[in-house]
Amino acid sequence: MNKEVIVNETIEKYEKYVNPALARLFRFMGLATIEWEANGNLLKDIDGKEYIDCLGGYGVFSLGHRHPKVVEAVKKQLDTIPLSSKVLFNKPMADLSELLAQITPGDLQYSFIGNSGAEAVEGAIKLAKIHTGRQKIVSTANAFHGKTLGALSATGRDVFCDPFKPLLSGFVHVPFGMIKEMENTIDEQTAAVILEPIQGEGGIIVPPEDYISQVRELCNEKGALLICDEVQTGLGRTGKMFAVDHYQVVPDIITTAKSLGGGVMPIGAFTARPHIWEKYVTSPFLHTSTFGGNPLACSAAITAIQVILEENLSERAAQSGAYFMNALQKIQAAFPEVIREIRGKGLMIGIELTKEGIGGFLMSELIAAGVLVAYTLNNPKVIRIEPPLIISKELIDRVTQAITAAIEKANDMIEDF
Ligand SMILES: Cc1ncc(COP(=O)(O)O)c(C=O)c1O
Repeated sequence: MNKEVIVNETIEKYEKYVNPALARLFRFMGLATIEWEANGNLLKDIDGKEYIDCLGGYGVFSLGHRHPKVVEAVKKQLDTIPLSSKVLFNKPMADLSELLAQITPGDLQYSFIGNSGAEAVEGAIKLAKIHTGRQKIVSTANAFHGKTLGALSATGRDVFCDPFKPLLSGFVHVPFGMIKEMENTIDEQTAAVILEPIQGEGGIIVPPEDYISQVRELCNEKGALLICDEVQTGLGRTGKMFAVDHYQVVPDIITTAKSLGGGVMPIGAFTARPHIWEKYVTSPFLHTSTFGGNPLACSAAITAIQVILEENLSERAAQSGAYFMNALQKIQAAFPEVIREIRGKGLMIGIELTKEGIGGFLMSELIAAGVLVAYTLNNPKVIRIEPPLIISKELIDRVTQAITAAIEKANDMIEDF
């Protein structure tokens, strides 16, 4: 079939069977094409146009696209036992749980393996409630924890939450990074505080240096648990295996997903300290999932963690992130009317623009120039840069050149935004 026909038919199917507004948005952004193949840092559309992936599937592609070792592990698993019988022991799930215990901080030990980030957050919230016997969960404004009902109750953005209210009771939101508000809110009724150590969708917000450890102390004082949602920050993205490692904090429960699947399989997990797991030890069927812990996804995750360790991807993210951030800061200094701030850690970088309207323009310009980026879900003023951790300096240079050209154009039209 002719490529143009395939593109048109796909867009028509989006309009008719997926969502017409999505089809319109993609077209408006200059994205009237189909993703066709991907490898490493690069993605090609159906016409063979190449894009440098600087969005990384919102943090999924830390290892790049189709890392050969992950693909090989998944293919091997496919030929033996892809999904679990759920009756006999599942070796890949046991191996992955052991690995998670080894790489997570402190005495975090027991894992439940699910299928997505939101599912990991749901499980973490349930575990905090059942362990403490309390109902109150403190979250932060502009947080993003997913869109299933429980995770959405923790998510801190009205536009996503309001249409579904009332959500779960007991959720309270405080401003992120402000310890006084947290102190005034955590009490003896609090089951847990749930936090992204660096807010991703909120606009790549790095909290004050001592914030996470102070929250940890407040939780200890009141007997509340600390859940750190590392679905986006985890597994090397910020220059350490976990973002909490920057602050030497051990949470009670940590969530992982996105890059855990090695960019090949969907998977999510929550991992907790042993004494918190006790109720699930007495009732192991209290929290279950048919597809959770399936050997196919677990084999991808095991290999992904091995690659992150062998290829020292956390350290690479720290170095490449510093190089990238330095280049972006120079662009900011040259165009302060367009860019307000560059911030982040490792390869989790935000470009905060001076006006919301510049975001869409920049995205279209960069995509036309062959660089995939997007703004953060809760803050359209911030363009996120989250490329694979394997990105080379040469590719970073190509991206910063494209950004400079787009920002120059935006600067010339600044009054129009
Ligand atoms: C910190 C965080 N938690 C949870 C989620 C939800 O993950 P998923 O989309 O896999 O449900 C996301 C997704 O962006 C996230 O960034």
